[in-house]
Amino acid sequence: MKFRSNSVEQTQKIASSLAKKIIKIGSQRHAQIFALEGELGAGKTTFVKGFASALGIKAHITSPTFVLMKRYAVSMSKTYLYHIDAYRLRNHRDLMPLGIKEIMADPRNIILIEWSDRVKKILPGKYVKVHIDHINGNTRKIEIK
Ligand SMILES: Nc1ncnc2c1ncn2[C@@H]1O[C@H](COP(=O)(O)OP(=O)(O)OP(=O)(O)O)[C@@H](O)[C@H]1O
Ligand SMILES: [Mg+2]
Repeated sequence: MKFRSNSVEQTQKIASSLAKKIIKIGSQRHAQIFALEGELGAGKTTFVKGFASALGIKAHITSPTFVLMKRYAVSMSKTYLYHIDAYRLRNHRDLMPLGIKEIMADPRNIILIEWSDRVKKILPGKYVKVHIDHINGNTRKIEIK
């Protein structure tokens, strides 16, 4: 699917409709993974905010650039949303101390990874790719596949 966004709000709306559409908690064997690609400032964190709010997460989402990973509980469920920023990582091995294998193995988890191309070796066979291109000003092209 391809979308054009002309504002932060539109990007968050696209993210929230994706979250509502494809979240089928527990219906698959592993965590659901969303790989976010796009240059600095493309809108990856903005996208995560829209996605998280659709799941009812009220916490303020900030970029996990320095902490690498943040975890948010989805209320009334045993689901956690993990927000990972791989920008400062050398490769997927840097995620191992965080217990990424166990997190990815739990089908209740939802994992969104910014700069996912840095850790592509750890991505499972099936995941959703979200590529955001900065066209100009506030215009972004968002491709989800
Ligand atoms: N249509 C749009 N969609 C998303 N962000 C937009 C849009 N138009 C303008 N922006 C601005 O672009 C910036 C996107 O920042 P954001 O932190 O989401 O990017 P990022 O891809 O996560 O960057 P980084 O690689 O540094 O983590 C914000 O300042 C936001 O206000
Ligand atoms: Mg970001």
